[in-house]
Amino acid sequence: MIAPLDRIESPSRLAVARHPRLIHDGPERPRVSEQLVSLIAPDSFAADQYRALRHTVDRLRKESGFQVFGVTSPGPGDGKTVTTLNLAGALAQSEDARVLVIDADLRRPSVSKYLGLGPLRSPGLADAIQNPEYDLARIVRRLDGFNLSVLPAGAPQISPYELLNSPRLESLLKEARRDYDCVLIDTPPSVPMPDCRLIERWVDGFLIVVAAHKTPRKLLVEALNLLDPAKVLGVVFNGDDRPMSSYYGYYGDYYSASGTDANRHGGWWRRFWSRRHPSVK
Ligand SMILES: Nc1ncnc2c1ncn2[C@@H]1O[C@H](COP(=O)(O)OP(=O)(O)OP(=O)(O)O)[C@@H](O)[C@H]1O
Ligand SMILES: [Mg+2]
Repeated sequence: MIAPLDRIESPSRLAVARHPRLIHDGPERPRVSEQLVSLIAPDSFAADQYRALRHTVDRLRKESGFQVFGVTSPGPGDGKTVTTLNLAGALAQSEDARVLVIDADLRRPSVSKYLGLGPLRSPGLADAIQNPEYDLARIVRRLDGFNLSVLPAGAPQISPYELLNSPRLESLLKEARRDYDCVLIDTPPSVPMPDCRLIERWVDGFLIVVAAHKTPRKLLVEALNLLDPAKVLGVVFNGDDRPMSSYYGYYGDYYSASGTDANRHGGWWRRFWSRRHPSVK
C-alpha cells in the first residue's frame, strides 16, 4: 500500500515562462524549451520543485518496485508534457539513472517540440506499434547532454485508439522495463479521450496533473472515476503559486489522512475535497 503522501506533489510557485523560447545549449544538445527548467536550469528554484516530485517517484520505485508512470490530466493544456519532461529531467540528474520518456499522446504529440527535436521524421511509438521490426533500442532517441532517452510519438497510420489497444504496446513496455529504471509516459487528457484507459493496463500508476486555478474540480473527480483507483498515484498541482507556508500546512493536514482506504477514492480523496483546495475551482 502506498502512503497517501506519495499521492500528491506540488511544483509550488513554479515560475516557468508562459511564452517559452527554444534554447540552444551547445552543439551536442537539442534546442529545448526554456520551460524545461530541470534540463536547462537544474539549480533553479523551479527545478527544485520537480526534484521534490522526483523524490516521491524515487520512493515509489524503491518501496513498491514501480517503474512505469503515466502522466495525465483531466483536460487539455493542464501541463502534462511540461511536468513529464521536467520530472524526467529531475530523475536524469542522477548520473547512472536510465530514464525514458514515451510520447503516447498520439493525437497532439508535443514531447519532440518541447525538446527541440524538430520536424526530423524519425520513427516513434506509433511506428513501433505498427511495425514489429522496430524494437525499442532501434528507435529510442538519446539526448546525451541531458542523460535522457526519448521515444517520440511517431506517425500513426490508424486511429490512436486502435494503436494503443494493440498487444504490441505491452511488449514494447516490457522492453522498456528491461532497459530503463524509470519510464514516464506522456498521455492525452483522460476525460475527453479514452486512451489512458488503454494505457493504464501497462503502467504501474498515473500522476494526475491539475492546473492550479484552472482545472475544474468536477473534471478532476470525473478523471479519478474513469481511472482504476489502484492506478492513481497522486495529484501534481501545476503552477500553484501559494506561499510556502500554506504549502507545508496543507501537507500537514494531508498526512493526518493516512490510513484511509486510498484505493476507493473515498478516504483521503474525500478528505482532500473537504479541504476545498483553493487551487482547484
Ligand atoms: N508550470 C507552468 N507555468 C507556466 N506555464 C506552464 C506551466 N506548465 C505548462 N505551462 C504552459 O501551459 C501550456 C500547456 O502545457 P503542456 O503542453 O505541458 O500541457 P498539456 O497538458 O501537455 O497539453 P495537451 O493536453 O495539449 O497535451 C503550454 O503553453 C505550457 O507552456
Ligand atoms: Mg501534452
